[in-house]
Amino acid sequence: MARILIATAMFPEVVERLRTAGHTVEVHEGGLPPGALSDAEALIVPLSLKVGVELLARAPRLRVVANLGVGVDNIDLRAAAERGVAVANTPDVLTEATADLGWALLLAVARRIVAADRDLRRAGFPGWTFLPPHLGVDVAGKTLGIVGFGRIGQAVARRGKGFGMQILHTSRTPKPDAERALGARRVPLDALLSASDFVVLCVPLTPETRHMIGERELGLMKRSAILVNIARGPVVDEGALVQALREGRIRGAGLDVFEEEPKVHPGLLELPNVVLTPHIGSATEETRRRMADLAADAVLAVLAGRTPPNLVPPPRP
Ligand code: NAP
Ligand code: GLV
Repeated sequence: MARILIATAMFPEVVERLRTAGHTVEVHEGGLPPGALSDAEALIVPLSLKVGVELLARAPRLRVVANLGVGVDNIDLRAAAERGVAVANTPDVLTEATADLGWALLLAVARRIVAADRDLRRAGFPGWTFLPPHLGVDVAGKTLGIVGFGRIGQAVARRGKGFGMQILHTSRTPKPDAERALGARRVPLDALLSASDFVVLCVPLTPETRHMIGERELGLMKRSAILVNIARGPVVDEGALVQALREGRIRGAGLDVFEEEPKVHPGLLELPNVVLTPHIGSATEETRRRMADLAADAVLAVLAGRTPPNLVPPPRP
């Protein structure tokens, strides 16, 4: 029977399921201790853990890495493939929760909810005024630009349709069925940025998407526009974003992800027109349980000699 390491806190029922299948399971919430990997055959990891050449070299018996997340930019897929280590992720089950969080950020920035709450707690309810300090902007009927029209991007668009928005998207390939169903139009990135009132980033982090939104792209956005990032921090040049927000070149931003997590650019912390959450896109009780179950399914499949669900294909040579 195999030794399974889980490098984060885990639901006890999931640990029990792996043990009941006959395996030894160790849960290491505070990081993997030295030597822990030497005879491990399976590893369940949070997406904050970098699984690269160095870690893989310390795990000679490893057969599977199950990532608790859909994005696999934390894993060196080539190095894993070279060592015959299968990689699995958790797509689909987190799509709706992540789209909800994107919308929560969009609405929070548009309607200045966090600042209003903070001021009410600090100074009390100021009385109803016609022109309050927290005057927001309309969302309904505006233009929503979605960068990355995959599972999460389309879920963001479905919510936008409910708000009567015009929907634009940028993706590598057309999505005729979803475009028809949602009334969405595929346009080049520059056109999307200059036409949208709200821009929501939903692309994976790849060499092509790193700093996809920098000074030039922020300069194309409307001064009244709001940027929401629920993808990965490095998709945005954070320094350029801070500068654009400081100078009022865009209205605001809602950010769930940061360029150097867990660090947050100090400039962002000082800005009133941003809402920040600590990478909690998929963090609902139900979604995290489904993700944990999928990761356990993948580990059990590989240890039983089967192909895991949600196997991430190795990169092309
Ligand atoms: P997905 O279904 O694979 O969708 C990704 C989309 O991005 C696809 O439509 C893809 O286009 C497009 N894309 C990729 N590279 C592009 C490029 N260079 N230019 C334009 N479009 C590009 O993935 P998903 O399940 O929606 O997840 C997307 C990402 O969200 C994940 O990789 C992860 O990083 C992030 N995420 C964050 C959280 C959070 O907690 N904040 C939670 C879940 C996921 P094609 O279809 O044409 O290839
Ligand atoms: C979360 O960020 C994920 O990729 O699932």
